[in-house]
Amino acid sequence: MIKKDFSILFIVTALCGAVTINSLSSCSKNDGDSYVDDLMSKMTLEEKIGQLNLPVGGDIQSGVVLGPQLDSLILEGNIGGFFNVKGVEEISRLQHLAVEKGPHGIPLLVGADVVHGYETIFPIPLALSCSWDSVAVERMARISAIEATADGVNWNFSPMVDICRDPRWGRIAEGSGEDPYLGSVMAKAYIRGYQGDDMKSDSTLIACVKHFALYGAAEGGRDYNTVDMSKERMFNYYLPPFQASVDAGVGSLMTSFNLVNGLHSTASKWLLNGVLRADWGFNGLVVTDYNSVPEVSTMGTASLEDAAAKSLNAGTDMDMVSGLYVKTLADAVKRGLVKEKTIDDACRRVLKIKQKLGLFEDPYKYCNVERSKKDIFTPEHRAQARSIAAETFVLLKNDNNTLPLKKKGKIALIGPLADAANNMCGCWSMLAKTENHESLLTAFRRAVGNEAEILYAKGSNIYYDETTQRNATGLRGIEYVKDDNSLRAEALAVANRADVIVAAIGESSDMSGESASRTDITIPDTQRDLLKALVKTGKPVVLLLFTGRPLVLDWESENVPAILNVWFGGSEAGDAITDVVFGDKSPQGKLTTTFPRSVGQIPLYYNHLMSSHPDPQEGVFNRYCSNYIDCSNEPLYPFGYGLSYTSFEYGKPTLSSTTLEKGGTLTLSVDVRNTGDCDGVEIVQFYLRDPIAGIARPVKELKGYQRVYIPKGETKRVVFTVNEEKLKYYNSDLEYLYEPGEFYVMVGPDSRSLQVLTFIAK
Ligand code: NOJ
Repeated sequence: MIKKDFSILFIVTALCGAVTINSLSSCSKNDGDSYVDDLMSKMTLEEKIGQLNLPVGGDIQSGVVLGPQLDSLILEGNIGGFFNVKGVEEISRLQHLAVEKGPHGIPLLVGADVVHGYETIFPIPLALSCSWDSVAVERMARISAIEATADGVNWNFSPMVDICRDPRWGRIAEGSGEDPYLGSVMAKAYIRGYQGDDMKSDSTLIACVKHFALYGAAEGGRDYNTVDMSKERMFNYYLPPFQASVDAGVGSLMTSFNLVNGLHSTASKWLLNGVLRADWGFNGLVVTDYNSVPEVSTMGTASLEDAAAKSLNAGTDMDMVSGLYVKTLADAVKRGLVKEKTIDDACRRVLKIKQKLGLFEDPYKYCNVERSKKDIFTPEHRAQARSIAAETFVLLKNDNNTLPLKKKGKIALIGPLADAANNMCGCWSMLAKTENHESLLTAFRRAVGNEAEILYAKGSNIYYDETTQRNATGLRGIEYVKDDNSLRAEALAVANRADVIVAAIGESSDMSGESASRTDITIPDTQRDLLKALVKTGKPVVLLLFTGRPLVLDWESENVPAILNVWFGGSEAGDAITDVVFGDKSPQGKLTTTFPRSVGQIPLYYNHLMSSHPDPQEGVFNRYCSNYIDCSNEPLYPFGYGLSYTSFEYGKPTLSSTTLEKGGTLTLSVDVRNTGDCDGVEIVQFYLRDPIAGIARPVKELKGYQRVYIPKGETKRVVFTVNEEKLKYYNSDLEYLYEPGEFYVMVGPDSRSLQVLTFIAK
C-alpha cells in the first residue's frame, strides 16, 4: 500500500539521482521525488500556494459557502483541486483546462463525498458497521470507488471514523459507532476498498479519513461544538481508528470543525505535526474541512489575517473552500509568519498525491465518458447493495415470532416513510439520483405479487409542526399534509381491514447527518401517536424503524410486538427490507451504538469506567450510588445486541491456559449452537477487562469478534486468540503498554450477556 510505495519511490529517487542530477529524462513522471522537485523548482511562491487551494464547485451543496468561478482560478494557477462537481464531462473539461492552459499544466484533484456509495447507494455507515462485516464494507467501498472514478472523481472524503457516544449528534450516522476496535476494523476496510492495492488503476482513488479529531464528542451533541478531553480518553477511545487508518496507508486526512482542548483542530500543531506526522508517521495530505481556516479565527484563536499562517504552520496542507491561503500566505511569508519551506512541504504533499494517482502520466485517466456510461448504478452493484443492506438491519424485538411475515392475506403498510422513495438513502447521498429509487411500497407489492394484498396509507406527517418538518426533511422534502387527524383516521380505516400492520416510520433522511442534532430522540410526535393508534387496534404490528441514530424507544419496546431497525438502507433498501420481512433472509445485524432508555442517560456507552459508587442492583434505586432517581442505568438495547429469526445457545467457554506468558498467546474457545428453526449468522463477541491498572480501565472492551454462519441444529466452535497486544492501553504518560496481573475475558452474543473467565498475564 502507500507506505510500501514510498519506500519504492525512495529507491527510485536514489537511482535517478545517481544517473543524472539536472536531467529528468531517466525518471518518469510517476517515479520518485525528482519529477515533483523539478516541477516545484519552476513554480513561483504564488503558484505553490495555489496548489493548496481547494475550492468548492457548487453543483452540489454540502456547506454554506458557495463556489467561485473555477475556470479563472484554474487559468491563474490558484487551485490544486476542486470538489462538489458532478459529471465526467464537466470534470474532464476542467481537467483539460488545467493541463492545457493552466501554469505548468498541473492536473487537478477532484474530490467528492462518496460516503456510502456514489449512485448505487449502500446503507449509511452506522448501519454498515452493524453488519460487523468488514468484507462487505470493503466491497461497498470498492464499488463506490469504481462508480466515482468512472464519473471523474479521484479523491473521496471518506471514511468518517469519528467515535461517537452521543446519539443527539446527527453525524453519528456517518461513522461506525462507539467502539474503537470495531471502528478501526471498519476504517481499514473502507480504505482497502477505496484505494485498492494499485493507485495507478483508474478505478481506485485516494481516501480521506475524517474528521481529525474528536468531532464525535461535540458537547451536548450539538454540531460544530467544543471538545475538551483528557489525552487518556483521546488515545484509548477516540484516536485508534485514525491511527489504524494511517497504518492502513490512507492517502489523506481531513481536520475537524471543533476545538481540541482550546485550539481549532486545523491549527493544532500538537495534533497534526505532532501526533499525526511525527508520532504516527503519516506522510500524506492534510486538508481542512469546509471553510475551516477562517473558523480558526471565528473560534478566537487567531486573527483572520493570521489564521492561514497558523493552520499551515500546524500541518494543514490544503484549504478547503475559504481561499484564505491564496489570499494571505504570500504576505505571511513576507511578514515572517510562515517559512517558504513550510509552503514547499505542503505543496509537495499535494503534488505527491497527484503523482501517486498517476495524474502526471495520464491526467485524463478518470475522464473516460464510456466508463461513466457503463460502470455506474449497474445491476451487479445494485445486487450487492441489496444484499449488504439486508445484513445491516437489526431486529430489536420479535414477540411471538411476529416476523417474518407470511405472504398471505391483507398487509397494511402505513407511515410517512412507506411511500417515500427519495428518503431511503439517508444523509450524504446527494450524488444519487433518487428518481431511480423505489419506495418500500413498490418493493412490498412486487415481493408479494398475487399471494397477498398490500394496503397503504400515509398515516401522518413527519412532525405535527410544518416548520419542524421542513427543518427535518431539508433537501428531501416530504410533502406536508395539513391535517394529521384525518391522515390517522384514514390509516386506521386501512389498518382495520388488514391482518397485520407494518408501520414504516421514524426519522426522515435528513434528520441525521451534518447539522442534524436533536434534543429529543424519540420517534417524532405525530408518528408516535400514529403508532400508538395502530397498536390499539389489537392487530399484530411490525415497526420498521427508519433512523440515522439510536432512538429512545421506551414505549415502543414495551408495546410493539416486533421492531426491525432498518436505518437508511440505500438505493436498494426497499427490496432488502422485503427480503428480511418476508423471511428470505434472517436478520443478523447487531448494534454498534447503545440505545438509551432516556435522553437524560446520554452519554451512555458500554465501555465505561467504574464509578466510585457502582449501582449494585439494576432497576432498584439505591441512595448514594451512581444511579438516577427516575431511570435505570441500563441501556434499552446494549452495544452488540441484535436478534435473529433463529436462536443461538452458547456453551461454556474455555481458555487454553490460565496464564499468558510474556510474548505468548492463549486461546478462548466457545461452542455456539443454532437451536432455532432456520440457518443463521451469529456475531460472537469477545471482550476483555483489566480490573486493576495504572489508570482506570473500562468494565469491558471489545477485542475481537467473529461472524459465523451456523446451519440450524448445528454447532460451531469459535476460537479467539488472546495476546499481549490485546491487553495494551495508553497510560497517563501516553505509553502504550500492559501491566502484568489478572485479566477477565468475556464472550457472548452482546455486551450485556457475557460469560467471564480470568487469566494471569505475566
Ligand atoms: C463538511 C463535512 O464536515 C465534511 O465531512 C465534508 O467532507 C465536507 N463538508 C465536504 O463536503
